[in-house]
Amino acid sequence: MPRFLELKVADCKRLNADYFELWLEAPSLAPLCKPGMFFELKAQTAAQERKLFKPISVAGVLNDRISFIIKAIGPGTRALAEVQPGETLFALGPLGNDFPLVEGKNVLLVSGGVGWPPLGFLSDLLKERNKITHIHGGAGASDIFPCDRAYTVDGSAGEKGLVTQDLPQILTDQNIDIIYSCGPLPMIGAVQKIAPKIPHFASLEAYMACGLGACHGCVVPVGESYLRVCADGPVFNAADIRWEEI
Ligand code: FES
Repeated sequence: MPRFLELKVADCKRLNADYFELWLEAPSLAPLCKPGMFFELKAQTAAQERKLFKPISVAGVLNDRISFIIKAIGPGTRALAEVQPGETLFALGPLGNDFPLVEGKNVLLVSGGVGWPPLGFLSDLLKERNKITHIHGGAGASDIFPCDRAYTVDGSAGEKGLVTQDLPQILTDQNIDIIYSCGPLPMIGAVQKIAPKIPHFASLEAYMACGLGACHGCVVPVGESYLRVCADGPVFNAADIRWEEI
């Protein structure tokens, strides 16, 4: 069972109107972090005292520090956006499983919105030994991060439309061997529907309460049962998910 910790903030800076990057000092935890894993984070403010932790994917590791790229969309994440270097915040992690790594493959990364950070971290590990194509989509320009092809629903950056709209062509043109995805469930389900025969590992987003496998509030239909995204995932073989029940 992971320990509840108070971690020191090394840096916290705005990336754009919606997103910020948080760096935490964690010398003993940084080496344990792998793409797909997440932390439960909470700011140490009076207003947050009785609030739930927020599950946030690890976006990267540099020496003793762990980075998180977070969208400020509610009270919990907005409180995290206000933390200052030198302050501490509450943390649990690293939690969850990680993406299996490959070598010598044509890899497609498909992310949507806050699904970009774990796949950016994964790309850093895979790019030396694989050919990577990363496509990324979001609602608008502020959701877009570095990638090979960007899509926005409102057309304010990249191509107008959904990240999956050119997928059949990309799979053929790039001769894709394996897919990794992270983003909204409908996006991941669409990827799996378009490419059912290509190995596909997906990190799922789910509402989490305890984040530790106790409340069963985050279950998804997988195989012949229901598995917890927080404790059994968040990375699953997309072919094992019963998409028709989601
Ligand atoms: Fe409680 Fe996953 S959030 S079991």
